[in-house]
Amino acid sequence: ALISLRQLLDHAAENGYGLPAFNVNNMEQVQAIMQAADATGSPVILQGSAGARSYAGEPFLRHLILAAIEQYPHIPVCMHQDHGASPAVCARAIQSGFSSVMMDGSLLEDGKSPASYDYNVRTTRHVVDWAHACGVSVEGELGCLGSLETGMAGEEDGHGAEGALDHSQLLTDPDEAADFVEKTQVDALAIAIGTSHGAYKFTQKPTGQVLRIDRVREIHARIPNVHLVMHGSSSVPEDWLAIINSHGGDMGQTYGVPVEEIVAGIKSGVRKVNIDTDLRMASTGAIRQFLVLDRKNFDPRKFYKAALVAMKDICAARYEAFGAAGMA
Ligand code: G3H
Ligand code: 13P
Ligand code: NA
Ligand code: ZN
Repeated sequence: ALISLRQLLDHAAENGYGLPAFNVNNMEQVQAIMQAADATGSPVILQGSAGARSYAGEPFLRHLILAAIEQYPHIPVCMHQDHGASPAVCARAIQSGFSSVMMDGSLLEDGKSPASYDYNVRTTRHVVDWAHACGVSVEGELGCLGSLETGMAGEEDGHGAEGALDHSQLLTDPDEAADFVEKTQVDALAIAIGTSHGAYKFTQKPTGQVLRIDRVREIHARIPNVHLVMHGSSSVPEDWLAIINSHGGDMGQTYGVPVEEIVAGIKSGVRKVNIDTDLRMASTGAIRQFLVLDRKNFDPRKFYKAALVAMKDICAARYEAFGAAGMA
């Protein structure tokens, strides 16, 4: 059944677990997530970016998610719009049947330039007003995502501020978070605590703590009824990185957020954990490996299947680690 983000995350908060929110663009991703959720008994957040809608086409993306709901009627599914860059993008998602939207007013509509606090409050409040009238949940974002190691937003062509950021922008301020929530009435809030989008988060293998979990606790204490969201939460699996690099790929050496740090975040109040890069890497690695190992194959179903299995394994591992297994 299709349900709102508020309903899903209220249940997660009551039961002390976190939910991975996986980005989807095609059928294999949707099937991998649903099969993993079915096998582990987990609720599901499927999130589509504006980029996903333009890749698949709005009707195809919508029907993929409706197909998931039809095939798995016993699993609660939230259909969430990721990183809405403007109220208009959020309006189109609501028209398309999404049960939750993210209005990312931390950046201007170009998705690159940091926006003023007033702009963020104004655009987010605007979206909340009519999203709530439609029974749709809203996620806002406060602070600039960026690695505390590199000071960079991460992705070059994705979402995130351009260039180096100063340290104060890289952490969400708890007082500002309380004010933002009061003014906007968002259901969920994405916070900056040291994560960044994409595969290039850390240049050194994380040994100690790489995220500011203390800051999660401070923010959670101020806004206990708003569900905290961690973007940029891919772990950049070392095994898939090695497979990509040894089968014709060239991603270099890089590190992501250790799963244990995410689990510490969940213990401190994080309820939604955004993951895209890990599934991109699993499918790329599985396809590269399959094509090298079976050079006579020309039936794409074979390598799409390999990609699906690789993504499903990661999804199932995250459902288990975040405590969502058995909660559907
Ligand atoms: O944070 C963004 C997600 O990774 C989605 O990326 O806009 O390329 O679909 P996308
Ligand atoms: P990753 O790039 O770490 O997978 O983050 C995805 C994300 O935050 C989508 O909104
Ligand atoms: Na989102
Ligand atoms: Zn994100």
